[in-house]
This record gives sequence, C-alpha cells and structure tokens, in this order.
Amino acid sequence: MRVLVTGAAGRVGANMVRRLVTAGADVKAMVLPGDPLRSKLDPFPDIEVVEADLGDQPAIDAACKNVTHVVHLAAQLIRGDTPVDRFYDVNAFGTLRLLEGVVKAGVPIDRFVLASSDGTYRPGAPPAVPLTEDSPQEPADYYGTGKLLGEYILRNHAAQYDIPFAITRFATVVSPEEVGDMFRLDFWRRVLSWQALGKDCHIWHLFDGQPDLVKIFDAQTGDAPGDTAVGLTGPDGTPWTLSILDVRDAVDGLYLALTEPEAVGHAFNLAAARPTSHDDGAAAIADAYGVPKLMVEMPMAHHLELDIRRARTMLGFEPRFDFRSMAATAARPRL
Ligand SMILES: NC(=O)c1ccc[n+]([C@@H]2O[C@H](COP(=O)([O-])OP(=O)(O)OC[C@H]3O[C@@H](n4cnc5c(N)ncnc54)[C@H](O)[C@@H]3O)[C@@H](O)[C@H]2O)c1
Repeated sequence: MRVLVTGAAGRVGANMVRRLVTAGADVKAMVLPGDPLRSKLDPFPDIEVVEADLGDQPAIDAACKNVTHVVHLAAQLIRGDTPVDRFYDVNAFGTLRLLEGVVKAGVPIDRFVLASSDGTYRPGAPPAVPLTEDSPQEPADYYGTGKLLGEYILRNHAAQYDIPFAITRFATVVSPEEVGDMFRLDFWRRVLSWQALGKDCHIWHLFDGQPDLVKIFDAQTGDAPGDTAVGLTGPDGTPWTLSILDVRDAVDGLYLALTEPEAVGHAFNLAAARPTSHDDGAAAIADAYGVPKLMVEMPMAHHLELDIRRARTMLGFEPRFDFRSMAATAARPRL
C-alpha cells in the first residue's frame, strides 16, 4: 500500500505517518511548502516528502502519482485571524483539487479517507446529545461549513469516479503535549473571550444572546492563578461535557477507515469511549498537576458529545485513552 498523507506535518498527520510506517506501508507525505514543522517527519528517513499547497493543482497532481491510498488531513483549522475565504478554499476546494489529482493519476485507488469534524454538527448548539453520524449537519460557521462541503465534494466525486472512500469525524483532538493546557482557568477564559468575535466565532450559537461571559467567569474565579484546574457548569450546576480524542486513538481510527472493507461509503464519529465531563476534566488536571480545582457556573448548558457506536461495531474501533489517563501520563516526569 502506497499512501499519500496530506497535512503530514500536522498534529494528526505526523502521528499518522508513524502509524503507517509501523504498519509497513510505503508513505508519501505531503506538506505545505516551507512548513516550519516539516522537521516532525525527520524520524522517518524512508518516507518520501513532497511539498504541495492545496491551492496548487500541478503540485497536487504530482503528489497524487503512483499512490494506492489517500489520507486527507490537510486543512485550515480555526485560528482567530483566518480570512473567511481560506476555510472554503482549503477545506472545500482543496479537497476538490486533491480528488482531481487522484482522478488524473488514474483511478482506481483502493481508498480515500477524509478527516472531517464534529464541527460539521454545529458545535455551538448541537442538534442532539449525543451526536450520531445521522444527526443533522447544519454548521453555520466557516470552518464547519468548509469541512462539510469537503464531505459533499468527496461523496460526489466518489460516486462519479468509483472512488472507495470513508470519512472520519473527529472530536476535539488532543496530543500528549497539549493535554496539560486544557481544563485550566486560562484555557476557558480564552474560549469564553471568543464571545467578542460575535458571529465570526465558530461556536457563536453557544454565546448568542448571552450576557458578558468573561465578566461572569472573572467574578467567580477572582484572583485564582491561570493554571488553576477549571470546569464549567450550567445554571443548575450540571457540568458541561465535551468529547475528546487522543491523537493516538485518532490515527488508530484513521487506519481502520483506510484498511477495513466495511468502512467504504461511510462516515464515522471518532472520540474517546465516553465524553469528558468538565468536573472530571478539571479533577484530572488537579490530580495530575497538583493544582486546586474550581467549578464555574455559566448561564447556559453545553454538551458536545459524539456517539462512536458505528466505528466500534463496523470497524472494531476501541479508543485506548480518556482525558484522565492522558493527563496522568502527560504530567508524569520523563526519566
Ligand atoms: N485538531 C482537532 O481538534 C480536529 C478536530 C476535528 C477535525 N480535525 C481535522 O483533522 C485534520 C488534522 O487536523 P490537525 O489537528 O492535525 O491540524 P493541524 O493544523 O495540526 O494540521 C493541518 C495541516 O494541514 C496543512 N495545511 C494547511 N493548509 C494547507 C494548504 N493550503 N495546503 C497544504 N497543506 C495545508 C498544515 O500545514 C498542517 O500541517 C484536519 O482535517 C482537521 O480539520 C481536527
């Protein structure tokens, strides 16, 4: 199997390259020209690294030559200052250009896997708790809409050109280096400050019509230090919930979507076995790092939970990590 991995220097990409190399696959890793994180691929001297921007059709065409499988991870993720058109150009039209490259290289290819997102389910006001793959996808924000357009473009091309495909919809992906920053006072204050972006924020539905949430947050956290473990609750004291996905489980799920015959033609939610309640998340950080824990009451509830039964039953996906085990491992001193 000769696998083209796009976004190969990214959070998921570099881990996917490792997963594939371990499985004995021949890997072609596509990176953004000049990507400063390209050195993450240095530990894999036997892979081929190609540079291509998803806006550059000739470079994409060259990258698609002689591959049997594609794992499409490259995407414009949510950054505060990203121009709107970039979400569509990279996540929707970039996916189209990649599929065009695959078609020009001469299908049949054995599998095209697209990484999509819980962002396609309208994360600020999810239509169901938990979300199944059949829940409505009505994102109403730039990132989620761009990712959903990518899904549609893939389904369309797959039908027209007989491309066996699968889609994975990730929960919030967390790598071991990042886990210690979550469920902290600074972390939630930053998230709540996105309220100031209004409808430019990908979770604006959550903030819509709410009073100044940072003010409410600050009134309860006082002068507690920024590294304090913090979780949020709704007005009745019920903790918020969030599905999280360890990057190592993400690549296991991608590998199954790439290799299992059953995966073809389906979308799969991928997340930890259970959503993390903010109470547990904050407690896990408090225990792992020895910091105090605070719960902060918000005027609204929020539950962003992915149901992973389809991936479990059809692919045999069994996530190995939950937030507590991730935090405990990350905090352990390295010998
Ligand atoms: N991180 C999450 O929480 C999360 C959640 C749901 C879905 N996803 C999806 O998972 C995939 C991987 O995400 P990640 O967390 O590894 O993100 P990341 O930002 O770490 O990696 C994305 C990669 O895409 C590359 N890229 C961006 N624009 C490009 C372009 N125009 N041409 C070529 N390459 C380009 C970047 O250089 C980067 O290496 C993405 O498709 C993302 O939408 C991520």
